[in-house]
Amino acid sequence: MNEAIERVLFTEEQIKARVKELGEVITREYEGMPLTVLGVLRGGAIFCADLIREIKLPLTLSFIEASSYKDSTTPQGEVKISISRGFSAKGRHILIAEDIIDTGHTLKAVKERLLADGALSVKTCCILNKPSRRQAEIDADYVGFDIPDEFVVGYGLDYANMYRNLPYIGMLSRSVYEK
Ligand code: IMP
Ligand code: MG
Repeated sequence: MNEAIERVLFTEEQIKARVKELGEVITREYEGMPLTVLGVLRGGAIFCADLIREIKLPLTLSFIEASSYKDSTTPQGEVKISISRGFSAKGRHILIAEDIIDTGHTLKAVKERLLADGALSVKTCCILNKPSRRQAEIDADYVGFDIPDEFVVGYGLDYANMYRNLPYIGMLSRSVYEK
């Protein structure tokens, strides 16, 4: 195990099993609907790649970049959103794939932007949820795991853009960010 990780919360196997279940639910709910999955860069990219392969429906894939964290463990104000060139939300049923819903500001901003751009529907799917930290009025429609208020990394989640490639999700040792 990586020495910066204090404790593993979800193993690679647990994540895989849960993503499969999420894919099954989404497959049932979007049956017969044209679906666009929108991954949120960068943290949501890994989850998104796994999730779409568990959705057994025709779908299109795009990415959006959203950032509010600046190499820190607390949110820093407004959310910056940039959408891939050539993508239009207009007339689409969109499922956002994101790593975590924490305060909720990111997902709320992304969802509002897509609806303002003319999306027919926007739902959200996050591998992690920190319910105790919510500030914005939004909940994810599909959640992998609820977690307590701890800073976690791995499976796309980062600290200072590191640890995204860990195949498991773990609690970062305080010694890493209290240095
Ligand atoms: P929100 O806008 O507060 O909901 O924050 C969502 C974003 O914050 C996510 O996309 C993550 O990039 C980041 N984030 C929140 N909690 C964590 C964490 O525990 N580890 C790593 N990134 C996190
Ligand atoms: Mg993120």
